[in-house]
Amino acid sequence: MKRSFIREILESIDAETISFAGGLPDEKLFPLEDLKKASEKVFENPKNLQYTISNGITPLREKIADFYNKEGFETKASNILITTGSQQGLYIIAKYFQNKQIVVEEPSYLGAVNIFKMNNLEMKSVSLDYDGIDAERFDEVFEKIKLAYLIPDFQNPKGSLYSDEKRMEVAKSVSKYGGYILEDAPYSELYFDKKAKSISSLIPENSFHLGSFSKTLSPSLRIGWIRANEEMIKKFTMIKETIDLHSCGIAQHILNNYLEESKRYEKHLAYLRGAYKKKMEIFTQELKNNLSDFRFEIPKGGMFVFGSLGSVDSFELVQKCIREKVVYVPANQFYLDGRVSDEIRFNFTYSSAEEVVEGLQRIERAYRGGMWKDK
Ligand SMILES: Cc1ncc(COP(=O)(O)O)c(C=O)c1O
Repeated sequence: MKRSFIREILESIDAETISFAGGLPDEKLFPLEDLKKASEKVFENPKNLQYTISNGITPLREKIADFYNKEGFETKASNILITTGSQQGLYIIAKYFQNKQIVVEEPSYLGAVNIFKMNNLEMKSVSLDYDGIDAERFDEVFEKIKLAYLIPDFQNPKGSLYSDEKRMEVAKSVSKYGGYILEDAPYSELYFDKKAKSISSLIPENSFHLGSFSKTLSPSLRIGWIRANEEMIKKFTMIKETIDLHSCGIAQHILNNYLEESKRYEKHLAYLRGAYKKKMEIFTQELKNNLSDFRFEIPKGGMFVFGSLGSVDSFELVQKCIREKVVYVPANQFYLDGRVSDEIRFNFTYSSAEEVVEGLQRIERAYRGGMWKDK
C-alpha cells in the first residue's frame, strides 16, 4: 500500500512552496466568529465534556436528518451515525464488508482506496467521465459484486458531476440486483448552479450516504456522518464503538450550537458557493493564460480542476515542480494500476489569486524546461 502522496507532500513542503495539492478549504472563509460563539456555549455545561453515546448526540443527528427531509428524502435521527470525518464512515463500512469485492470509479479517491486495501476489499474499476460513470459497464460489473463506491458530486479527483440520467441508471442497476452503494458526498453542497439529487434518495434501502462538515465549515472538527437504514446504522455503530467509542463530543456540541440557527449555515453555504465559484473562474482563466497546453473541463462545483498536459508524465513533472516550489497531485496517484499519466488534479479553493498566477507560472517553467531538456 502506498502512503497518500498528498499527505506526504503536505508534510514535506516548506512555507515558500505554493500548493495546489491538498483538498483544502480556504481558511479565510471559515466562520470563525460564529464558531467561536458556538464553542463558548459548550463550556457553560460540564455535561458537554462527558462521554456520550456512540451514534452521536441526538440534537445534532436530528439536524442532519433535517438536511435530508428538507430535500424530500425522508430521514430520522435513527438513520444517522455521526462519524469522525467521513473518512471514518468509509472505514466503518469497509470493515463491515471486509474481504468482499467493490466497484470503484476510475480514477478514485486515494483515501478510500487505501481503506479498501487495508480491509482486503478487492476493487474493480469502472471508468469515469465528466458526466459520471460508464453506466453500461457499471451494470455488468455490479450484477456480480453488488457493492460500489461512488462520488457523484464534484468527484475527487476528477471534479465530475453525474448527469441525472447516469444517476437513474445506477439506481436502476442497484434496484435490479440488490446490494449497496456507498455514496460519498463531501462536496455536494459546493455546487455553483443547483444541487443534484442524490442517488441514495432513489434507493434509500440500498445506499449509505456519507456527509461531512469538513469542506463546508472546518475539517479540523472531524465530524461527518453516515445515512443508512436503521438496521445497518446499528451494525455500523457497533463497529464504531470498537474504534473510538464516539466522535469528539465537544466538536459535536459546537456544531449543534452553530446549527441551532439554521439560516446561519444556509447563508454561509451560499457565501461559500459564490466565493469558490469566483476562485474557480480565476484559476481556470489563469490556467488558460499561464499553462495554455492544459486541457480541462470547467468544474460545476467542488474544489478541483482536472485535466491533462499532453506529452508529459505528470508524476515526473511534479518532481521538477517541487524544486520550483509549487505542487499539484499527478493523476497516477488516483489509478489503481499506477499508470503513467499526463493528467493533473489542481485544487482551486486554497490559494490566493496572486499565488495562483505565480504557481502556474512556476509549473509552466518546469514544463517548458522539462520538455526542452528531455528532447
Ligand atoms: C471524496 C472524499 N471522501 C472523503 C474525504 C474525507 O473527508 P473528511 O474530512 O470528512 O474525513 C475526502 C477528503 O478530502 C474526500 O475527498
